Amino acid sequence: MSNEELIEFALTARKNSYSPYSNYKVGCAVLTKSGKVFLGTNIENSAYGPTNCAERSAIFSAISNGERDFEKIAIVGSSNSPTYPCGVCRQVISELAPNAVIICAKDKNDFVVTDIKTLLPNAFSSKDTDCTKNKKE
Ligand code: THU
Repeated sequence: MSNEELIEFALTARKNSYSPYSNYKVGCAVLTKSGKVFLGTNIENSAYGPTNCAERSAIFSAISNGERDFEKIAIVGSSNSPTYPCGVCRQVISELAPNAVIICAKDKNDFVVTDIKTLLPNAFSSKDTDCTKNKKE
């Protein structure tokens, strides 16, 4: 699937955004290795903290449906320039979709193609916690 086609799916997801507090709509579409597309949007909450970003909505939906391998992730926000994933979503992508091509888009004609190693170098991972396994406190 082309980057432009996946961005089109992300634009569809953006229409479902529940963002009455920020009024900032985000859509995300993830393409799995099996060729399926899962959509996600940002879902806000009056308590703010429970808000879920579009990227995590899409990735969690794919995982909930039995997918583990991701090929591409397309993100479309509402800015005048391409929208990049927030820090929390970068951390989630680094663990769950480390090899995915990440498409940060404004629209189908304005997007940047990158990857998580570029967006989150030296990410914290399960390797870092291995050293604590045999430690007594
Ligand atoms: N948001 C996302 O959905 N993804 C991002 O990567 C950046 C931020 C959402 C969260 C919140 O609903 C709104 O955008 C404004 O921060």
